[in-house]
Amino acid sequence: MSADHGKVMELFGSVFNDVAGSVAIMMSYLGDQTGVYRAMDKLGPATASSIAIESQVDERYLLEWLSSNAARGYVTYDDDSQLFSLSPEQAAVFARENEPTCIQGLIQGVVGQFVNQDIAIDVFKTGRGRPWGEHHECCFCGTERFFRPAYATHLLDEWIPAMAGVEEKLSKGAKVADIGCGLGTSSILMAENFPNSIIHAYDFHAPSIEEARKRAESKGLENLEFFVADAAEVSNEGYDLACIFDAWHDMGDPVGVAKAIREKLTADGTFMVVEPMALDGLKNNIENNPGAGMFYGFGTLICVPASKAQPVGLGLGPQAGPKRLMELLSSAGFSDVNLAAETHNNLVLQARR
Ligand SMILES: C[S@@+](CC[C@H](N)C(=O)[O-])C[C@H]1O[C@@H](n2cnc3c(N)ncnc32)[C@H](O)[C@@H]1O
Repeated sequence: MSADHGKVMELFGSVFNDVAGSVAIMMSYLGDQTGVYRAMDKLGPATASSIAIESQVDERYLLEWLSSNAARGYVTYDDDSQLFSLSPEQAAVFARENEPTCIQGLIQGVVGQFVNQDIAIDVFKTGRGRPWGEHHECCFCGTERFFRPAYATHLLDEWIPAMAGVEEKLSKGAKVADIGCGLGTSSILMAENFPNSIIHAYDFHAPSIEEARKRAESKGLENLEFFVADAAEVSNEGYDLACIFDAWHDMGDPVGVAKAIREKLTADGTFMVVEPMALDGLKNNIENNPGAGMFYGFGTLICVPASKAQPVGLGLGPQAGPKRLMELLSSAGFSDVNLAAETHNNLVLQARR
């Protein structure tokens, strides 16, 4: 069967646009790491020369960079005045760290994948696991930076209130385990907002825990303690709430981990599992989930290899979907398993011991 030329051109155009987008992502990374977007946000409409001085980068390169960004709609160019600027919307996406729409963490995570592309090829060919700790450090800080605004926006106001009775317990004083805590963003948020509660945060990646400890210390939090430990070997017990944020599918044995966590909960304890947004079934994700291409891509590069590097190596992947996730929680012995909340990027599952 010969190819339909019109369809070939349509596909070529679409992929060409993706390639242009990937160059734009590298441009955006340069602008973030050198502070150009932040300088532009500070200056308002400005010449390339003033932006170069403010951000201390080479003026000729900057002009090329600004032109590329303007052509992609990432910055604004006014031909009459020949000034470059960020609209409030562009600033919210590229320059302002605490905006929930700040995209720079995600970009950093993607760029980190290109750094060690030779390892990705080897993993893909051989089927070996790739431990989380084997990634470029952009993977850790990019992940944290991407998830932070979502946690800051949703965790306290939506996700915890969606867990029956949990918010009240945390306000009075409860014991919480945050497992697979990474750099501790969710742990710090809970410790800050529930000063009567004790938060224990666990992760088996020692450099992440070291960084998380520094961050908590700088905030003077005394109700938060970090542990380097595998999720299946949480050292304390009697938890009113155990949570896993965007990490359950990365684990080699999610059911084994869930069973072990269940044993560490109080009789009426809650298990909250936050996972990337996904629908049930591949076809459904392909057709109806705009994030599916990206999440299956991260699954190929990061999540499935991370799981395969651990005992059991289930390789659940980040797009398992709510039905499968709930089945796994039920098979670990939990009751009242349900989808308590969902946001643009996340599913929030609730299970009772
Ligand atoms: C995608 S990151 C999410 C980190 C953090 N929860 C967040 O949302 O920013 C996944 C984390 O799970 C941790 N992890 C994966 N498998 C683990 C296991 N078996 N035991 C403990 N931590 C694990 C990794 O070290 C990594 O920090």
